[in-house]
Parts: sequence; structure tokens; C-alpha cells
Amino acid sequence: MSDKTMNLTLKIWRQKDAKSKGKMETYPVTGISEHMSFLEMLDVLNEQLVVEGKEPVEFDHDCREGICGMCSLHINGEAHGPDRRVTTCQLHMRMFKDGETIYIEPFRAKGFPVVKDLVVDRSAFDRIQHAGGFVSVNTSGNTIDANAIPVPKDDADEAFNAATCIGCGACVASCKNASAMLFVSAKVSQFSLLPQGKVEAKDRVMKMVKQMDLEGFGNCTNTGACEVECPKGISLDNIARMNREYLKASLK
Ligand code: SF4
Ligand code: FES
Repeated sequence: MSDKTMNLTLKIWRQKDAKSKGKMETYPVTGISEHMSFLEMLDVLNEQLVVEGKEPVEFDHDCREGICGMCSLHINGEAHGPDRRVTTCQLHMRMFKDGETIYIEPFRAKGFPVVKDLVVDRSAFDRIQHAGGFVSVNTSGNTIDANAIPVPKDDADEAFNAATCIGCGACVASCKNASAMLFVSAKVSQFSLLPQGKVEAKDRVMKMVKQMDLEGFGNCTNTGACEVECPKGISLDNIARMNREYLKASLK
């Protein structure tokens, strides 16, 4: 396997803390392998900064394999960068050209305040999830085995697709209204499609939408940028389903 290396100019958002005013700063990096992931490239920069006695750039990451939803960068104006159906940790440097200038910013949304540098606070998603993104199960010893309840294959597949949402927030960062509808609708759909989720369906959708509004996320105006930038391919169909669920719940 050939190993092409590249030299890059990074323009990175630096912000000391939530209260400070941030600004873009410029960092050159050299000898970056095209096989590195984007986060590995940032590791190289941070090692360089530490050697120079400077403060490394803070960025969120955990699994580094597209599962946890922690990595959250806006790269050259796109959430998770220029590739499709990948998170930032799965983005490879071969997507960039030698000599390129890359702009790296945190996700921007009122509901995701910047904590430091490229790290944003996405606990708003946790609070929405806590408001209703669960099923209550009787654990008294008389619990029915989930496999004993028949579920049509198509419904099971669609519920599974909705459940692949990793809560990364790219949908919010890509939306001109900073709407969280794709995320919330995925979480509503994964339950509403299954018999186990129908018991609390009305309460769930009402409470999750209420919390979404309280967190300061905007409304959906059907632009579809969220679906394009979502690393898990969550479909806009989920938003339509959530709107139907919400209407049904409001009329009862
Ligand atoms: S819907 Fe997609 S973009 Fe939004 S949080 Fe879930 S996985 Fe991320
Ligand atoms: S670090 Fe877990 S999805 Fe990127």
C-alpha cells in the first residue's frame, strides 16, 4: 500500500472557555499520511503543540469507530467533513489534497454551547432522551420475553434503522434552523414502530418535543440538510412519522 503524505494548513477555532470569545488560529502540519483518520491528524498536531509548550486543541472523541457519536467537528463547512455516511473519526485524510487549507470549527447551535475549543455541550440531547426516550418495563419477575411478541419484519427493520442514530448532533449543526427534529424523530420512531413502545407513545412524543423546544432548537422547514449530513443515513421519513405521532397525541 502506497503511503502518500501531505502538508496542510489548519485553521482551527480556539476558545479558552464557555465565556471567552473565540477566534480562528492557523497551524501548519506536515508529513500527514493519507491513511490517517482526521482525529489521528489532530493527534499529530496536538503532539506537536505539546512539544512546543503550547496548549493542545480540545476535541471530543471516544470510540473512534463511528459508534459513540462523540466526535463532532464542522470541517470545511460540513458536519463530519466532506465524506458521506461517516463520522469525523471515520473520515480519512485521503479525502483532502496536499497543500490544502482545512477549516475546523465546533458544531454551531444555541442548544450546543461551546465548552472549549472544538468541544460543545450536547447534554440537551440527554435531557430530551430522559424526557421520554425509553420504555417502562415490569421487572417484578413476570416480564414477558420480548421475543414472545410478534413484530412484522418491515416494522422491525424500520425501528432498527431509526435506532442506529448515535446522537452525534450533525443534524442540528447542518440545519439552518439548528433543528433537532431528525434526532428526536429517530428516537420517537424506534419505539413507536414496536408494540412495546405503543403503551407510552402519546406521553413520549409530547414530552420529548416539549423538551426539544425548551432546549432552544429551531423548527424543521424541510430543507433536508440533516439527512444529507447524518452519518447513519437517518431518513426524513422519521420526521413525518413523529409529526403524525404528535398530531395523534394532541387530538386525544
Ligand atoms: S439523526 Fe443522524 S446526525 Fe442526527 S444525531 Fe442521529 S446520527 Fe447524528
Ligand atoms: S469517536 Fe465515537 S463516533 Fe467518532
